[in-house]
Amino acid sequence: MKLLVCGGAGFIGSTFARQRVLEHGDRVTVYDKLTYAGREENLQALSGHAGFRFVKGAIEDAATLAVTLEEERPDAIVNFAAETHVDRSIAEPDAFVRTHALGTYVLLEAARERELRYLQVSTDEVYGSIEVGTFTEESPLHPSSPYSATKTGADLLVQSYFHTYGLPVTICRGSNNYGPYQYPEKLIPLMILNALHGDPLPVYGDGMQVRNWIHAADFSRAIGHVLEHGELGEVYNAGGPDEEANMDVVRRIVELTGASESLIEHVVDRPGHDRRYSLSSEKVRALGWEPQVRFEQGLAETIDWYRENEDWWRPIRSGEYLAYYERQYGRALQS
Ligand code: NAD
Ligand code: DAU
Repeated sequence: MKLLVCGGAGFIGSTFARQRVLEHGDRVTVYDKLTYAGREENLQALSGHAGFRFVKGAIEDAATLAVTLEEERPDAIVNFAAETHVDRSIAEPDAFVRTHALGTYVLLEAARERELRYLQVSTDEVYGSIEVGTFTEESPLHPSSPYSATKTGADLLVQSYFHTYGLPVTICRGSNNYGPYQYPEKLIPLMILNALHGDPLPVYGDGMQVRNWIHAADFSRAIGHVLEHGELGEVYNAGGPDEEANMDVVRRIVELTGASESLIEHVVDRPGHDRRYSLSSEKVRALGWEPQVRFEQGLAETIDWYRENEDWWRPIRSGEYLAYYERQYGRALQS
């Protein structure tokens, strides 16, 4: 397949691009705006590969997108491009509206004009919080943050292009991802790097919120599976095999890094904090996908990756992230 992978310089998009080029022999063009979260170094393994090209461009920029599509003539667009951090959406929602609403619309129009397959990468957060049980694809949509509300809007727009224009779309909704190359604003890499540096570990509220963890390699495989085998117009959930309370995740990281438990600090809770996410993945399992990585093993390997890849995180941890951290947590990183 020839794929245009939007947002492919980010954490999950770059994992997907590596998988598709190196394991499936696809031709992949990554199209990415390179926000603070988009990093070309995430694609280093593909640099110089005949099946790979990088184009800097925003999904809302119809002109650059049109030139890229003319040059590449892909079979499908896979859209990972998004603003992805809930806390940033609470502090500054505007980029979330622009990318998720306008950006998705521009991509859909480009796909419609050229009759391209379109896969939207989405999230379990569109369903909101669930105290007991699990969400299926039929569950009502109850997003709670500007991040999840704008992602929900994008999903609805994608579905409208199927119903109205017959655009061949699918949507794949993932649970919380973890693994190498994740920007350190997210819970797991933030706690790993703080633990390795002896910085405090800021747990929001009581830390008993539950997340359904999936390794980014497993989620990427699910997306590839839906692209190849999914029924057009359908939504597929892809949840990880393990659920954990945040406090348990942080305690595991403390143990595996050899840090002191005294670094754990309960800080003011996230406004509108969703208590629990949980996804049923029966529908994508019926297509033949299964998650391969259990959390215990994946977390230990992820910690090893951060230990061994200081070259990757050092420029991030001493750049934009420093100012963000101080704004968000009201304190500077000490080291
Ligand atoms: P990320 O923040 O690491 O990467 C996002 C990428 O999108 C970056 O490379 C960024 O430069 C690019 N981007 C942002 N706005 C853009 C625009 N307007 N035009 C072009 N490129 C743009 O995100 P991630 O964690 O890899 O998430 C990827 C996708 O998966 C997102 O759609 C997200 O909603 C979804 N998702 C993430 C998770 C998770 O736990 N991280 C779980 C489920 C679904
Ligand atoms: O569920 C899928 C979603 O998972 C994706 O759609 C989002 O893009 C992704 O960011 C993630 O959202 P969360 O809000 O669940 O992830 P985050 O890593 O920000 O937080 C995970 C949990 O940890 C959440 O309950 C908040 C808590 N937390 C987070 C941070 C950054 C803390 O207690 N302290 C922190 O410093």
